[in-house]
Amino acid sequence: MSRPQVLLTRRIPAKAIARLEEICDVEFLDGGSLTSAELAAKVPGKHGLVTMFIDPVDAAVLAAATDLKVVSTVAVGYNNIDVAAAKARGIVVTNTPDVLTEATADLTMAILLGMTRRIVEGDRLVRKGGWKGFSFDFMLGSDLRGKQMGIVGLGRIGRAVAARAKAFGMRIAYTRGRPEPGDDAEAMPLDRLLATSDIVSLHCPLTPETRHLIDQTALARMKRSAYLINASRGPVVDEAALAWALKNRLIAGAGLDVYENEPAVLPELMTLENVLLCPHLGSATSETRTAMADLAARNIVAVLTGQPPLTPVTPAT
Ligand code: DGY
Repeated sequence: MSRPQVLLTRRIPAKAIARLEEICDVEFLDGGSLTSAELAAKVPGKHGLVTMFIDPVDAAVLAAATDLKVVSTVAVGYNNIDVAAAKARGIVVTNTPDVLTEATADLTMAILLGMTRRIVEGDRLVRKGGWKGFSFDFMLGSDLRGKQMGIVGLGRIGRAVAARAKAFGMRIAYTRGRPEPGDDAEAMPLDRLLATSDIVSLHCPLTPETRHLIDQTALARMKRSAYLINASRGPVVDEAALAWALKNRLIAGAGLDVYENEPAVLPELMTLENVLLCPHLGSATSETRTAMADLAARNIVAVLTGQPPLTPVTPAT
């Protein structure tokens, strides 16, 4: 019997490739960003597709994929995949939850500390020779202890961020999500969370409802002393509105790991000192990326050998 054919849009760690090669023939596309038409041209004859969150697996790609059984994205977010269209064609979609929770929460805390203690701004200053020596009121940041961390999207990552923030002495408020039993996080509507939080940290998926959830109106509701963190998906924040709010000091600062049009960053944001810009590093540790790739490969192998997928995505109803 002929072996199943699997397409990978990028190379993944060797161990995960070896797992796939035990049962499949594997082809790699090692290019940069792919258009839907480019991907559609590559999928006929493929039984499995391993994608990244930047690959557009839309209805046209799925229509061209006449033999496809499974799309396995190496990410927890799957807004790049038309899950309903896949379901209609009997194609299983899987993602990589859990294995990246801790790394993404760690990065969120790194952004939080980097932003509130002005670490990157300080580094820039030192490098350009602008540091004139110790001064008592120089580059003052903000304490975390006693402050309110407002988490938008209390899912796995949101909860892991909450646990870390609590260890820093912060109170937790949240909207959109479910606390674990025993959590003392306070549920509140978004408007109140925005108006009362010292830090607003976004951990919700990108859906039509959350696109530009943080717009001019939302930013204007925040405290002038508050900070915004986005480690979810870029389009959850209206970047132009954020640049306006930062420029006019409507909020104290922001830390972004994700952008509306990655890898492009709104030029205005790059000119501002009160924003920390990370190049989408949420899950970027060797251990986590290896675990993500391995889970993605195991999902492909499971489906192509007639087993249930380990971490299937279910379309919203
Ligand atoms: C995800 O998993 O959704 C990240 O954004 C990519 O690692």
